Order: sequence, then C-alpha cells, then structure tokens
Amino acid sequence: MKDAFGREIDYLRLSVTERCNLRCRYCMPEEGICKKRHEEMLTQEEMVRAVEAAAALGIRKVRITGGEPLVKKNLLAICEKVSRIEGIQEVCLTTNGTLLPRLAVPLREAGVQRLNISLDTLDPQKYAYITRRDEFYQAIRGIKAALSAGFGRVKLNTVLIGGFNDDEIGALAALTLAYPLDVRFIELMPMVDGREFGRGAMVSNEKVLEALPQLEPAGEDGGVARLYRLPGGQGNIGLISPVSHRFCARCNRIRLTADGKVKTCLHSGAEYDLKGLDAPGMTARLRRAILEKPACHNGLSPEQPSGAGRQMNAIGG
Ligand code: 5AD
Ligand code: SF4
Repeated sequence: MKDAFGREIDYLRLSVTERCNLRCRYCMPEEGICKKRHEEMLTQEEMVRAVEAAAALGIRKVRITGGEPLVKKNLLAICEKVSRIEGIQEVCLTTNGTLLPRLAVPLREAGVQRLNISLDTLDPQKYAYITRRDEFYQAIRGIKAALSAGFGRVKLNTVLIGGFNDDEIGALAALTLAYPLDVRFIELMPMVDGREFGRGAMVSNEKVLEALPQLEPAGEDGGVARLYRLPGGQGNIGLISPVSHRFCARCNRIRLTADGKVKTCLHSGAEYDLKGLDAPGMTARLRRAILEKPACHNGLSPEQPSGAGRQMNAIGG
C-alpha cells in the first residue's frame, strides 16, 4: 500500500533475534545486552502471522535480519514459512557470514534467494578489533559457502569507517574482479552512542569515488545503492549513503523488531507493537504504522545521532 506521501511500501525487514555471535563496535556494546525476557519476543507463529498481514497490505520483499539471524534456533522454519506466504516474491537475508559454512545450503533450500554478508576488512586483526571476536576465517569460509551454494548476486556490505578501513577501499572493491559478487560501501551511521568513533570516522562515500577514479556508473539498483563497476568487474560496487545522501523520499521499507515493534523509520523512536495481536489486529496496526511513516529523518552527525532509541542489533541492521 501507499503511505501518506505516496511511497509504495513493499519491503519488510524482519529481525528474528537481537542476539549476535559478534560485537561490532558500531552496532552493539560489548556487554549488557540480552536483557529482554523470552516472553517479550515474538514467537515463530507471530512472526509468520505478521508477515502474512504485511503481505496482505502489499509487502512483496522480506529481508531477514537480526542481530545475527543465523544464531536463531528455528530460523530455517521461519524462512521456509515466510517464503511460502502468498504475495511474498523475494526472501533475502543479511548475515555476518560466520555460520554460513553450515547453513548456506539449508537456507537456500528453505527458500532464501539472496544473501548480504557483512565484511568490514580483509585483515584478520582488524576484523577482530571491529567485531571484538576472532572469526575472520569463518566469515571468509561463509562467503565461499554462499558462492558455492548457488545464491544469486551475493553482496558484501562494508561499513566505511575513517581511519579504520578507508585504506582498504581498493582491496575490497577488487573482490568484484575475482569473484561474482557485489561490494557495497555503507556510510557509518551514528546510532545511540554517536560518539563511539568521533567525527573523523564518519566519512562520505564520495571517498570511494576519489579512491577509485576508474569506476564506471552502472545505474540504479531499484533500492538505496548507487551502482558502479570496475572495468572488467564481475559484480557491482554499490554506494549506500544514508548520511550524505538521504534516501527518505524513495524509502519503501518498514521494519519489524524481534520483540514485535513495527518501526517505519530507522531513525525514529516511533514504534507500533504487534506482540500478542491476532491477524486482524496486526493488519490494522500495520496499516496505521504505514500511514504514519514519517516523510524524512533529521540529519545524522556525531552531535545529532539517530533518534532510533535502540542499538542497531535491536532494530535490524
Ligand atoms: N552504521 C552503518 N551500518 C550499520 N550496520 C549496523 N550498524 C551500523 C551503523 N551504525 C549495518 C552493517 C551490517 C548490517 C547488519 O548492519 O552494515 O552489515
Ligand atoms: Fe552482529 Fe551484525 Fe551487529 Fe556486527 S553489525 S554485532 S555482526 S548484528
């Protein structure tokens, strides 16, 4: 359905858990998470009911997120059920990749069509720093498992952080020469604690264009990325610039958190609770949420961090 500003809302990001086996510094604190009780979280049945209600309102694409979705026990059953819902044309999943060696093939069999895998660095020590866990080689094995499981267009997501990985733009982009995958650079968003990295860390994606003058424009992806290609590349380079180029005017998405809250804007504190509702109740609340989706968020900066009111792992990255 259309929201109050004429945007066709057809994309739902479904977070299945807040938990994660990594602790990326821009996403989660080292400790003090998982305070929520099991009873507060959506059950598997409620998640499926919510997607059915969303599909009836025009949602066509679902992305499963977290936290890390692959740590969720009944993930495969959720994927299978969601991919069979009438109206849902595409089921994708965002993961840190570390559990893909075991799960890539089962996910594909459960109806997941595409994977986005997070990888911020090609240096095992820097990986251990940014994620606070020593899982670099597992993540690399996971990417290879995704490529050989036959997913269409595997995408790697790199959060660009000044002073951390801006010296690796060329090396990360070069992955598109060697492998059939897309590499997407995402601007660091100041979430609840906008000061974790300081001002120098938030660098504009224009830095990618400066570092790689040979990039050729490759059009739009229908989503939020601006696409480029290295000459001879097998995949695209995508620039996702939530800070320097707000894409609110084209925003077609809503989110559902693992504890049942609909969020119609990543950076707004507004939440609509679906926990405990029956199907008509969920449909009515989703409809209201979509109609109240804000036109735009305020600018993001270390001084003016996101108004999300939650850490990223509790929203759905
Ligand atoms: N800024 C930008 N991207 C973020 N992610 C998580 N936190 C942030 C943030 N503060 C994204 C990462 C990861 C995905 C799960 O969420 O790209 O790949
Ligand atoms: Fe986990 Fe992803 Fe957050 Fe990193 S960004 S801590 S992998 S949920």
